[in-house]
Amino acid sequence: MHFLSADLQHYAEAHSQAEPPLLAALSRETHLRVLQPRMLSGLLQGRLLSLLSKLLSPSYIVEIGTFTGYATLCLAEGLPPEGVLHTIEANEEYQPIQDKYFQQSPYHSQIVQHFAPALEVLPSLPDGIELVFIDADKKNYLNYLEAILPKMRPGGVILSDNVLWSGKVVEAVKDNDKHTQILMEYNQRLATDPRLETVLLPIRDGISLARVKG
Ligand SMILES: C[S@@+](CC[C@H](N)C(=O)[O-])C[C@H]1O[C@@H](n2cnc3c(N)ncnc32)[C@H](O)[C@@H]1O
Repeated sequence: MHFLSADLQHYAEAHSQAEPPLLAALSRETHLRVLQPRMLSGLLQGRLLSLLSKLLSPSYIVEIGTFTGYATLCLAEGLPPEGVLHTIEANEEYQPIQDKYFQQSPYHSQIVQHFAPALEVLPSLPDGIELVFIDADKKNYLNYLEAILPKMRPGGVILSDNVLWSGKVVEAVKDNDKHTQILMEYNQRLATDPRLETVLLPIRDGISLARVKG
């Protein structure tokens, strides 16, 4: 869900950095060939991810939920030359399109792709993560937070997507709506965990920015 009107969305996009041609091509191909293309971060959120990554200049990034790799390439824009980005995707069907676009990117040698459930991969990753983008199955958001927090470098940043869940987090929650219940618990945890400083940005479907205190 987009909380901005179409006009305001277009205005914000028109007054933000232009989408790099490789990302425009990836977005086009995802919309033409892949089911559920709206999972892709898109221009405005992608430029936000890129800019945050450039501001932080992280040597070590982790993305949970690669899909076709749009956000991966946005986050990679902030990597210094020796930096590395691990991205985790459970569905191997997305590998050919990821490979096609990662290979054309100047960051291809810095991107490490994993194809397995993220909770199986995360324990094998080294400590010292500086930037994380959590954007996979919502039922595991709290588990992802538990898995990554001990691996974060002090001052590191955790970005979490879809935290407003189409506005359901402020509506009456049905007993069987586990995703909304977990996201509400997750947002509460981000806001109150003494190890974190959090701001929830109402951009697109809601993206939280949490800094791990030093
Ligand atoms: C919203 S999409 C990611 C979009 C991508 N980050 C972007 O912005 O372009 C979520 C992805 O998480 C993947 N996923 C779901 N459950 C997963 C799991 N347990 N481990 C790893 N990936 C998972 C899905 O297959 C899907 O491709």
